[in-house]
Amino acid sequence: MGRKVTCIFLSVLSAWLLVARESALFGDDGGWSSGNHSLRDEGPCNIDVIHYTSLTYAQFLQQYAYVKPVILRGITDNKRFRFLCSKYNLLREYRDKTVRLSTANTHSYRKVDVLFDEFVEYLLRPQSAGTLGSETLYFFGDNNFTEWEALFDEYHAPPYKIPHTNPAYSFGIAGPGTGVPFHWHGPGYSEVIYGRKRWFLYPPDEEPEFHPNHTTLTWVRDAYSSLGIQQRPLECTIRPGEVLYFPDRWWHATLNLDTSVFISTFLG
Ligand SMILES: *[C@@H]1O[C@H](CO)[C@@H](O)[C@H](O)[C@H]1NC(C)=O
Ligand SMILES: *[C@@H]1O[C@H](CO)[C@@H](O)[C@H](O)[C@H]1NC(C)=O
Ligand SMILES: *[C@@H]1O[C@H](CO)[C@@H](O)[C@H](O)[C@H]1NC(C)=O
Repeated sequence: MGRKVTCIFLSVLSAWLLVARESALFGDDGGWSSGNHSLRDEGPCNIDVIHYTSLTYAQFLQQYAYVKPVILRGITDNKRFRFLCSKYNLLREYRDKTVRLSTANTHSYRKVDVLFDEFVEYLLRPQSAGTLGSETLYFFGDNNFTEWEALFDEYHAPPYKIPHTNPAYSFGIAGPGTGVPFHWHGPGYSEVIYGRKRWFLYPPDEEPEFHPNHTTLTWVRDAYSSLGIQQRPLECTIRPGEVLYFPDRWWHATLNLDTSVFISTFLG
């Protein structure tokens, strides 16, 4: 009996020490942004931000699913997934696994396979405004769900489903200043696990002006500031604990303000 109690005590203690060590070492950013330059400008937020307890599924379907984007707070609880996505934990589990990177332009032409630890060590860095999207390698999607199964099993997707669609995950990690330029596809959700991500959206019939090989950072610097009131996008910056929903065929571009870990649920 005494031995059993000691045993339980020791395992609780060691679990607590592990958590304490993680948070002491990595703080709130999962160890991802240490020493790297975040972008300051979160921009305005003109998208509805709603705590999910104030929006029933029926209201979501009626007011947003086919109509306009919305940001839902607290709709997922991904504490465990977040813990597994710290830099320390991901490197420990997946350092020698291959990840597939894509060029970050509108039509994503080129794919490159690298080891995960090489990606984190050499390619995960802040992006400057001069870099072309077609010259930037971005880790998002093309995930190997066999090798990374233990991780994705822990992710809880937003529970509000769109009828006649099936969810598919895309997971990624990217440095401050990176992002994808304007493009569109089916509806879906985007959640940041660490870091902040700024979003720009336009309805399907309002194609924004952009160069397909230029990054979102360049678009923000050159085009965004000269837009007239009528041409301004819907926009907001999302943080951990928030999920952005975008309807079918809405144009969207993203900008990571910090080194960010993120996951999208595409409803195809
Ligand atoms: C920070 O940026 C440097 C280069 O600018 C890069 O080598 C490093 O991997 C980055 N670290 C993280 C955690 O993003
Ligand atoms: C995923 O990883 C498995 C196991 O290493 C490998 O056999 C498979 O080819 C990979 N799949 C893709 C799509 O890369
Ligand atoms: C974008 O870059 C790709 C790959 O470098 C190139 O083939 C394409 O012509 C470029 N598109 C434009 C519009 O410049």
